[in-house]
Amino acid sequence: MNIDFSTKLAKNIEEVEIRTAVLDTVNALCESARDIAKICAKGPLEAAFGDVAGTENSDGDSQKALDVRSDEIITAALKTVPVAYYASEERDDIITLEHGLPLAVASDPLDGSSNIDTNVSIGTIFAIFPAVENDPEASFLRKGSEQVAGGFFVYGPQTSLVITTGDGTELYILDWMSGKFKLAVPAMRISESAHEFAINASNFNHWHPPVRAYIEDAMKGADGPMGKKQGMRWVGSLVADANRILMRGGLFMYPADDRKGYEAGRLRILYEAHPVAFVIEQAGGKASNGTDRILDIKQDSLHERVPFVFGSVDMVEQVGEYHINAV
Ligand code: AHG
Ligand code: MN
Ligand code: MN
Repeated sequence: MNIDFSTKLAKNIEEVEIRTAVLDTVNALCESARDIAKICAKGPLEAAFGDVAGTENSDGDSQKALDVRSDEIITAALKTVPVAYYASEERDDIITLEHGLPLAVASDPLDGSSNIDTNVSIGTIFAIFPAVENDPEASFLRKGSEQVAGGFFVYGPQTSLVITTGDGTELYILDWMSGKFKLAVPAMRISESAHEFAINASNFNHWHPPVRAYIEDAMKGADGPMGKKQGMRWVGSLVADANRILMRGGLFMYPADDRKGYEAGRLRILYEAHPVAFVIEQAGGKASNGTDRILDIKQDSLHERVPFVFGSVDMVEQVGEYHINAV
């Protein structure tokens, strides 16, 4: 085993076949994450570490060698566990591993690719759904609330796993001595209010009015409507920003903007927003597209983007008010 599961994880999954398959799959993903973390730890000592692979993914992003290699590691691991279908940021289409198996897994194999060669935390995001028999498309084009498990690994000072199966959010840390992920926090909780936001402020001139108004008011700090100094952090790796918000509260926004291709923001709903929204909600936070709950949204295409707002409940709700008042 690559992880010492808590006695609670997946116990809320009633179907024994699904529960067992989820635990086997998470165990396999932990082994993949350990392998990817080892490559990250070598950095440029590893051949072709931060290099561009010379190819593009479905979103038109140029692929880094580590994007492709991480996807290959995960694909190989999923072939050893009861997963019927696999969807990946790095693959245009779904791959069928074996019809009839109980699960469908979607993944962002390497999140934060722009940070790969800068020694900044990066990660792997995954969403696990019950497979729809003989229908790969239906297995993924569905509401995020149908996930049976979701979470992400962070390759940073610690190699960690944040995961939920719908009954709270747990934090595991990789113990390199044993090679096992060990439970560190059995129930992560996001503070309801906080005073720190994460957004790529260089896009200010492209934001729509509600987001611009919210950030302008936040920048006014104690002299503005928020009545308190607001801090700002932006890592550029979704997993790192999400992990910080889980640990100390705050708000993350990657909104829609008026740049071509950013009409729905940058983040993909299936393998970025849905799994992150799942762990955030299970830790007492909120996740929306600005106005509507992310997990209620059903995506129509595999790599569909969505404006993504998540974090402390009070802050996400306040962003919602700015959207409503702007109408
Ligand atoms: P990926 O590397 O998987 O494409 O994800 C990168 C995402 C996300 O991790 C991060 O929040 C966002 O891109 C940063 O976007 P900008 O570079 O536009 O700030
Ligand atoms: Mn990503
Ligand atoms: Mn990625």
